Amino acid sequence: MGGWEQIWQGDGARQLWSVPDRRVLQLTAKWNESKTIRRVLDLGCGVGRHVYLLASLGFEAYGLDHSETGLETCGRRLQADGLKATLHRGDMSVIPYPDGYFDAVLAFNSIYHGTSQQVDKGVELVRRKLRVGGECFATFLSRANRLYGKGEAMEPHTFNDPRMYKELFAADGESGVTHHFSSEEEVRHFFRAYEIESLEHEELRLALPGKNGGAPSWLPIRKSYFWQIVARKVDRHA
Ligand SMILES: C[S@@+](CC[C@H](N)C(=O)[O-])C[C@H]1O[C@@H](n2cnc3c(N)ncnc32)[C@H](O)[C@@H]1O
Repeated sequence: MGGWEQIWQGDGARQLWSVPDRRVLQLTAKWNESKTIRRVLDLGCGVGRHVYLLASLGFEAYGLDHSETGLETCGRRLQADGLKATLHRGDMSVIPYPDGYFDAVLAFNSIYHGTSQQVDKGVELVRRKLRVGGECFATFLSRANRLYGKGEAMEPHTFNDPRMYKELFAADGESGVTHHFSSEEEVRHFFRAYEIESLEHEELRLALPGKNGGAPSWLPIRKSYFWQIVARKVDRHA
């Protein structure tokens, strides 16, 4: 065992990944209003903060992850509140649903786990699984991130176990986990067959849940720069 399976067994990680990301909150609110997006996949859903959010907003929610503990935690939380989602355990290089099936795909801090070629293939696989007009929200590690260059180099800009989150909650870091770091140009290249709606460069923020349902306290993680992209599938490449 190692990597995320081990990380999700610790309380620290589960707590810090339980409050939905602010950008995802905005986006899901917009999708909800538009009523054109109903079926949403969370790729690399972890303990399911966004699957829970989607299900509670009434979306047809799907989560995919290779961590059994992550999915079990997600399933328990949904069940406790009478919510439903379809959870699948597997590698994100295989999305076991028909092409054109999803209205939207979220890939928050997940799709960059691989070499540049694997990431490129992952972005294309997501495009295939989206319907024309469907949206993808994904995050990518930036080369300005303080962890760039740490860990074992596997190819240019790709490192194994760069000690991501180690000081926060992961005693052994993400041992055995590959991370690819991107420039803006590369992110644009990954999404060359999509129409890009927005691309932002931001520090990651994670939140501790507030006590007794109060407001969460947000922790900016210094120099943890990520790219955040929203892109749409267009029919010229369908
Ligand atoms: C940083 S966590 C993010 C979890 C979730 N997206 C969120 O924002 O709360 C990354 C997740 O990606 C999953 N993951 C990494 N590589 C994967 C792969 N090849 N196939 C499936 N899941 C993967 C890990 O198990 C982990 O749950």
